[in-house]
Amino acid sequence: MNRHVAIVGAGFIGRAWAIVFARAGFSVAVYDAVDTALAQCQRLLLENISDLAEHGLIAEAPASVLERIRTETTLPAALKGACLVQECAYETLEIKRAVFAELDRYAAVDTILASSTSWLKASEFSEGLAGRARVLVAHPVNPPYLIPLVELAPAPWTDAAVLASAKTIYQEAGQVPVVLHKEITGFLLNRIQAAVLNEALNLYADGFASMEDMDLVLKNGLGMRWSFMGPFETIDLNAPQGLMDYAERYGPTFREVAADQATNPWDRGTMAQLHAQRREVLPAADMQARARWRDRRLMALIAHQRSQPR
Ligand SMILES: NC(=O)c1ccc[n+]([C@@H]2O[C@H](COP(=O)([O-])OP(=O)(O)OC[C@H]3O[C@@H](n4cnc5c(N)ncnc54)[C@H](O)[C@@H]3O)[C@@H](O)[C@H]2O)c1
Repeated sequence: MNRHVAIVGAGFIGRAWAIVFARAGFSVAVYDAVDTALAQCQRLLLENISDLAEHGLIAEAPASVLERIRTETTLPAALKGACLVQECAYETLEIKRAVFAELDRYAAVDTILASSTSWLKASEFSEGLAGRARVLVAHPVNPPYLIPLVELAPAPWTDAAVLASAKTIYQEAGQVPVVLHKEITGFLLNRIQAAVLNEALNLYADGFASMEDMDLVLKNGLGMRWSFMGPFETIDLNAPQGLMDYAERYGPTFREVAADQATNPWDRGTMAQLHAQRREVLPAADMQARARWRDRRLMALIAHQRSQPR
């Protein structure tokens, strides 16, 4: 297999994928429909790659990683010789359909076509394509060069060999792929995130706690374990005899609470209130710097995880 990857869309996720693949030694071509997105690409990439070097997370000089990433102003030039295309355009079904029609037209028949979509099923944007057997979703977590999970969600018609090759490519790139057994809107991670947000919004809107305290519950509570163990591993250790013991002790209460959890409407009034509170704590002008702070915290966490036994 050749080691060239094409990235379509040079926004947050496209640039982050470029770092993932280039860091692992792949050559990368980045294409975007908007020239200004490409124009700022190299500068933003260098910033992120330099942060990685500063935290000891890459062995090479940032410039040599960056050298493996080039920008292309036409789609066919970017796709040439690619083993995989990582699509990272806007999240609408119309755009995904249009982009995948173009990818299927211009990419060589053995090129795998993967979408970064956060919610859409591969079957929704690949159904009518001649090459639909080579299309799948590969959903990353932002930013994928710091958070390794990638959810591979094939359509019913995705070729098993394509899925297997995609899995190998992401593993070679240092990611941790999880394969869904069947398609579902939002895959796994975003469905869990949806459940958490739904309940956090309900508890806030119903007056049980402030927004700040809801954030504390996650970052000083549940989230601390979740950075190194999942929900099933967690409950297995939270009763003396393990998971079944936990289920017998607490299962009925969990069931009652779940039955009580309503669908939150995400109404504009509540969201505007939350937004205003956030902007008081974090003015819009400081958001970019705060995102960089978040990424540096993640880098420190990765360095810590690497130093610990699994
Ligand atoms: N941001 C996240 O947290 C996150 C996480 C996981 C997955 N995703 C998914 O990744 C994808 C990209 O999201 P993002 O956050 O990088 O968005 P973004 O707005 O930062 O970037 C999108 C880029 O795509 C380009 N683009 C739009 N249409 C195009 C086309 N037809 N051809 C080529 N380029 C085109 C835009 O010019 C823009 O530069 C979405 O599907 C999103 O759901 C985002």
